[in-house]
Amino acid sequence: MGLSGLGSAVLASIVLLSLVALCSGGSDAPRGVAVGFVFDLKATCEPPCRHAGVCIRNNTCFCSKGYEGETCQYANCFPKCKNGGECLRPGKCRCPPGFGGRFCHKVTCDGGCWNGGECTAVNGVAKCICPSSWTGSKCQHAICPQGCRNGGICVAPGICSCLDGWLGGACHTAVCRQPCLNGGKCISPDKCRCRPPFSGPRCEEKKQSH
Ligand SMILES: *[C@@H]1O[C@H](CO)[C@@H](O)[C@H](O)[C@H]1NC(C)=O
Repeated sequence: MGLSGLGSAVLASIVLLSLVALCSGGSDAPRGVAVGFVFDLKATCEPPCRHAGVCIRNNTCFCSKGYEGETCQYANCFPKCKNGGECLRPGKCRCPPGFGGRFCHKVTCDGGCWNGGECTAVNGVAKCICPSSWTGSKCQHAICPQGCRNGGICVAPGICSCLDGWLGGACHTAVCRQPCLNGGKCISPDKCRCRPPFSGPRCEEKKQSH
């Protein structure tokens, strides 16, 4: 035990003795603040004092700085561990998932937040808050408000990547490599819908009417 520890122990015994004097009048406990330096060298503490706490009276531990509890079993963290972190030893917090930093004061999103997303604690859970044009747990998915149709996928905000044979902002326009004739309409890749009386792949044939 260091000098400062001893000093603290003395201070604590004085405090304890005053408490004893107040609380247990009539017992055989040592009375009086008059006794200058008192702590019971024969005192036994069971279970023993932990974390370098000193047994100053039977079953009374005087804890070293940073610990508290009957047997000095609890560590103290200053500042306190935030966001449900557990104080492992003085100044050392164990943080729940989603939090980090010395006092668990920092929010950490597993895998990070992409595309300008911001990691924020929402009801104690780390979450990416995404810019309006992105979504997903990491803001990894772009949003195409117009939708991407016909198998197209949204690759960036408002931008669809279309399958072969489709064009347009929402991949909604079919492409017929040979144009549809006679007012026919390209309705899917290389497929024309013909106006009567035309038919054929490009609406090039005119049906004979009888
Ligand atoms: C402390 O405990 C020991 C053993 O249990 C006992 O002999 C002793 O008298 C106790 N001391 C005081 C001050 O009560």
